[in-house]
Order: sequence, then C-alpha cells, then structure tokens
Amino acid sequence: QTGLTTLDYGFVNTASTASAITYIDGDAGILRYRGYPIEQIAANSTFLEVAWLLLYGELPSADELDAWEKRIRRHTLVHEDLKHLFEALPYHAHPMSMLSSAVAALGTYYEDSAAVDDKEAVELATIRLLAKMPVVAAYAHKKSLGQAFLYPDNSLSYVENFLRLNFGTMAEPYEVNPVVAKALDRLLILHADHEQNASTSTVRLVGSTKANIFSSISAGISALYGPLHGGANEAVLEMLAGIRDSGESVKTFVERVKNKEDGVKLMGFGHRVYKNYDPRAKLVKESADAVLEELGVHDPLLDIAKELEQAALEDDYFVSRKLYPNVDFYTGVMYKAMGFPPRMFTVLFAIGRLPGWIAQWREVNTDPATKIGRPQQLYIGSPERQFPQR
Ligand code: SDX
Repeated sequence: QTGLTTLDYGFVNTASTASAITYIDGDAGILRYRGYPIEQIAANSTFLEVAWLLLYGELPSADELDAWEKRIRRHTLVHEDLKHLFEALPYHAHPMSMLSSAVAALGTYYEDSAAVDDKEAVELATIRLLAKMPVVAAYAHKKSLGQAFLYPDNSLSYVENFLRLNFGTMAEPYEVNPVVAKALDRLLILHADHEQNASTSTVRLVGSTKANIFSSISAGISALYGPLHGGANEAVLEMLAGIRDSGESVKTFVERVKNKEDGVKLMGFGHRVYKNYDPRAKLVKESADAVLEELGVHDPLLDIAKELEQAALEDDYFVSRKLYPNVDFYTGVMYKAMGFPPRMFTVLFAIGRLPGWIAQWREVNTDPATKIGRPQQLYIGSPERQFPQR
C-alpha cells in the first residue's frame, strides 16, 4: 500500500550496536561514563581526565594525567597553511561549517592519519585532534569577527587556552576568568559522550568503513550541526530571545507549541532516550545560577527559561509525551554569559563531545570483529513492475 511511511510500520531510524563506554537509562534519567555516575564525575573531575577515562576505560593516575596534559599542550600549534582555508570561507559562514571543513583538512597534513590499525598513529591522531580542534574552533570564531587569529599559549590550561584564543586580541593581554574557566570545563564534561546519539552513530558508521579519524570526526560535526541535535542549544537562545522581543507571554508561546503552530517546538525539550529529566540539564541549571551570579550577570532569558520549564512541567501536553529539559535547554544562557555568540554554542558542544567521538571511533576500529556499518531497511516501495517497451 503506497503512501505509508516507516512510522506506520513502527520503524524508527535506528541501528543497534554494542559499546562499553557510556550507559544511559532514559526512564530513570541515569548517565554513566565507564560506570561512573555523571553527577560524581561533574563534581570531582576535569575535562581532560574525563577524556582519558572515556578513551582508556579507567581513571588516570596523577602522573598519567600530568603527562597527558603536557603531551596535548605540545600539539596545540596548527600548520600555518591551514589558516588559508579560512580565507576561502565567507566571514558569515556558520562556525560549524568552518569547523567540519577545518577538521577534515587537518587530517591531510599527516601522512599517517589514514592509519586505522597502527596503534601509535591512532594515539598521535587522538592527541592532535584534542589539541588542535579547540584552536581551529577559535579560528572560526575569530574569522566571524574579522579579528586576527592568536597563537596558543601553552602556559595556560586546556580551557584557559581556548578562552584566550576566543576572547584575547593582539592589542592587549587577556586575563582568564577562573569562574568562566571552571564552568566551561564542567560543561565540556557534561557533553563528553552520550552513547549512540546521531553524531556519534555517524562517527561510528564512517569509522566502520576504515575512513581516517579526521574525516570521521568531521562527519560527526556535520551531524551535530542539525537543530534537532547539537544545534538545539543555539535554537533555544533564539526561542528565548524571540519570546522576550515579541512581548508574548510564556503561556501564549506554550499554547503555540501545543497547537504545533508553524511547526514551532519547545527547543531544548524532549529526547530520543530520556523520558525523564536529562541528568545533565539538572547539572547545567545548577551551574547557570551560580555562574551568572558570580559573573554579576542578570539575564532575563534565564528567567524566561525557568518560567518556560515550570509551565511545561505542569502541562499534561508535555508530561504525557514525557518531554523534559535536555542538555541544551540551559547551556546557551551560560555560554552567552561567558561571552560566546550563539553561533559558537554548537561548536562548544562539539569540543565537549570530541573525546566521546574518538573513543567510540576507536571502539569500532580496534575490534577485529567489527563489520562495515549498514543499517537495516524495510522496503515499502513499489512491488516489481515491467518497464514500458519503447
Ligand atoms: C541532543 O540522542 C542524544 O543523546 C542527543 C543528545 C546528545 O547528548 O548527543 O542528548 C543531544 O541532541 C538533545 C536534543 C536536542 N534537540 C532539541 O532540543 C530539539 C527539540 N526536541 C525535539 O525535536 C525532539 O524532542 C527530539 C528530536 C529531541 C526527540 O524527538 P523524538 O524522540 O523523535 O520525539 P518525537 O518527535 O517522536 O515526538 C513525540 C511527540 C510528538 O508529538 P505528537 O506527534 O505525539 O503529537 O512529542 C512532541 C512531538 O511533536 N515533541 C515536542 C518536542 N519534542 C517532541 N513538542 C514540542 N517541543 C518539543 N521539543
């Protein structure tokens, strides 16, 4: 019967896989990296320690972590020629497009980047990506501002270096705000991995073809860009600003969402897996209040977000559909308070997700039993028919 869609057959675009990295219980709102609950990790760890945990399965010793951080700092310089890529892009290009292009291009500078079976080459590619992706991300930000690209300062920590590359200028010294650095490190931890989400599945699928890790990560960045996925954090801020600027009440906006007017959605709400509160959203919300207060920032958009959340949590339309805030609902307000423009929000998501993508890519490529990915299909098209004789 034509005209039916896969949903009529109960098929949703999924493919199953096995992984030992991240565990989610969507109904209970549980998230664990290598068995450790996200709440304990967020309270006690740092982003680079979490990157090690995701990649190697255990927490590093103090010496291992120290050597790891030093090795990453030594790889922050990007080949001078790569900067010319940004000259070819318009200043108004979205930073996510610039980032996916730059990461794919980054791989072309290393003849061993295509090595997927050489352990040392994969280690080196891992270090290069962790060290250099934040640098080219900051290049994308500077390109959009028409400002000169800075060089990394390896006397700074990973996050401090990234903040300076974004907000420092050639004209004056840059003072890292420790509150911002600590909050950003925590936000990167909260984004570090999330099981088989769309962009991670993309990285695994591309990696399963033995494509090199740079091209696989570039594909993941492109998948994350979409407003239903990582692009939602930027869309949330647009939604909140739209409510503020239009003067419409939160109640009126909620009614428009419920009536599905012009396809409007409550961005930052809902999730394919969490049918309960996203544990990361809770942690981000706690940080948002603390960071804005410490920065002395009062953002009416945070008030609107809280009012919107309260209205939705009390409304059967959302409760019956198990729609709760997800990780993207409050992050934008924090990124804005830190000084990032909305178009950089998803880039920050990508930097956080990078160790998870790499760990999942390595899980595919170090398992000899891995076969090339090929999602299942249910054919719902025309039965066989004869082509007209001519
Ligand atoms: C991320 O997978 C991951 O792990 C992703 C992520 C990660 O860390 O990698 O967690 C990061 O991508 C978080 C999600 C960010 N996206 C958004 O905030 C965009 C808004 N959310 C929706 O588009 C939606 O909730 C999805 C895409 C996230 C999930 O969609 P589902 O699970 O396929 O839900 P659905 O589309 O089947 O919706 C079920 C019902 C529908 O209503 P009815 O047809 O039954 O009447 O709920 C409604 C939908 O219309 N609905 C929403 C809604 N989300 C779902 N209605 C209003 N606002 C929303 N946000």
